[in-house]
Amino acid sequence: MRVAEPLKLKNSVELKNRFFKSAMSETMANKRNQPNEKHIQLYRAWATGGAGVVVTGNVMVDRNALGEPGNVVIEDEQDIDILREWARYGTQNNTQLWMQINHPGKQSPKSMSKEPVAPSAVPMANKYKGAFSPPRELTEGEIKNLVIRFVNTARIAKKAGFTGVQIHGAHGYLINQFLSPHDNRRKDAYGGSLENRMKFLIEIYEGMREILGHSYPIALKLNSSDFNTMGFTEDESLQVVEKMASIGLNLIEISGGNYEKPKMSTGTDSEIFFIDYAQKLKERMDIPVVVTGGFRSFESMEIALEQNHTDMIGIARPLALEPHLPNQILAGSNVGITTQHLTTGFHALDVKIGPAVGNFYYAMQLKRIAQGKSVRRHNNAWWPLLHLVGTHGSEAFKPRRKK
Ligand SMILES: Cc1cc2nc3c(=O)[nH]c(=O)nc-3n(C[C@H](O)[C@H](O)[C@H](O)COP(=O)(O)O)c2cc1C
Repeated sequence: MRVAEPLKLKNSVELKNRFFKSAMSETMANKRNQPNEKHIQLYRAWATGGAGVVVTGNVMVDRNALGEPGNVVIEDEQDIDILREWARYGTQNNTQLWMQINHPGKQSPKSMSKEPVAPSAVPMANKYKGAFSPPRELTEGEIKNLVIRFVNTARIAKKAGFTGVQIHGAHGYLINQFLSPHDNRRKDAYGGSLENRMKFLIEIYEGMREILGHSYPIALKLNSSDFNTMGFTEDESLQVVEKMASIGLNLIEISGGNYEKPKMSTGTDSEIFFIDYAQKLKERMDIPVVVTGGFRSFESMEIALEQNHTDMIGIARPLALEPHLPNQILAGSNVGITTQHLTTGFHALDVKIGPAVGNFYYAMQLKRIAQGKSVRRHNNAWWPLLHLVGTHGSEAFKPRRKK
C-alpha cells in the first residue's frame, strides 16, 4: 500500500510513511500560555498512533498576539523542560514531530488584542467586525523584530528536541496577510510586487535556515488561493512555492478545499480547483507536497498518492476522533472514518454557530485524549455549544474565522 511507503526529504531525513497529521490548535495551555502534561499525553497518543509526521497546533511567537485563548506561546527558554518532555513523547515510535509557528496578525480577537497589528490598517471583512478590532500598520522595525521572534521560537523548538518546524503561511494569519494584495497595501520593501509581499516569509525562512542548519526540516503551510478576487491568487501561490523550493524549503502543505468530494462529483468549484492546483504544483516543481482537507477513506488516500496529486496525506479532524487511525489503516483493520455534521436541530442556529462549535467539538476531543478518556462521537451540537458558552461566555457567539 502506498500510504506505508517511506518518503525521503532532500536533506535526507526519512519519514516512515505517508500519514501527515496536520496542525490542530490544542487550546490547552494555561493562562500564562505554557504547555503542560496534557500536551505530552496528547502527543504521546499521536506518536503511538502511527503517523510519519505529527505537526503541533499553532505555537505563537508573541504573547500579546494570540489567535485564541489557550495557545502555547514560546518567546524564550523558560519552558524548555516541559517542551523537552513534549518532544520526547511526541517523537516516540520514530515519529517526526514538527512545531507549527504562527502570528495571527489582525486575526487576533478583540477580547485578546485591543489593537492588533497587520501589514496595513485594513480591517477584517464586515461579518467579522464585531469580533476583531481594526489593526494598525506594522513599522519596518516591528517587522524585523517579528522575523527575529519566528526564528527564535524555531531555535527553541530544535533545542527542545522537536524534529522540524512548519511556518504557518495559510488561513489568513500574519504571513498570509503579507502575501495578500488585499491585506498588504504597503508602499515600502514589504508591499507592492509579489516579490515584496513574499519578503517577510523569506526573511523568516532564511533566518530559520541559518540557525537550524541545512539538515533540519522546515515546512510551510500555504493556501492554494485566498478564494477572494482581491486576495492571493492561485498563480501567486504557485510562484511562492516555486521560490521557496528554490531556496531549500523541505515540504509544502496545501490547505483549502476538500479532497474527497470531487471524486464523488459533488465538489464545488473551489474543491475541484484545489485538486487542479495540487496537480499543477506537482507538475511544475520538485518539492514534497502534502494536500490536507477532507481525506476520510483509505481508498481516496491511495488514489491521491497513486495519481501523484500529493506525496503525503494531510489529516486533521479524523485524528481527533481516532488518534490511531494510521496504524489501523496500515494493519488493514480500518478503511476510513466519517466526520459528523453537528446539528442543534435548528437550521438557522446551525448556520450561525457552525464553525465555532465545530472546532470546539474537536478541541474537546483533544482534551479527552489528553486525559486518557475515550472520544465522544455524536452529531449533537448542543454538547459543544454549552461547553463553549461555559468556557467563553458571550464571546462564544461572536463570529470566528474558520481555521
Ligand atoms: C480544532 C481544529 C484546530 C485547528 N488548528 C489549526 C492550526 O493551529 N493550524 C493550522 O494550520 N490548521 C489548523 N486547523 C486546520 C487543519 O489543520 C486542517 O487544515 C483542516 O481541518 C482540514 O483537514 P481535515 O479535513 O483533515 O480536518 C485546525 C482544525 C481544527 C478542526
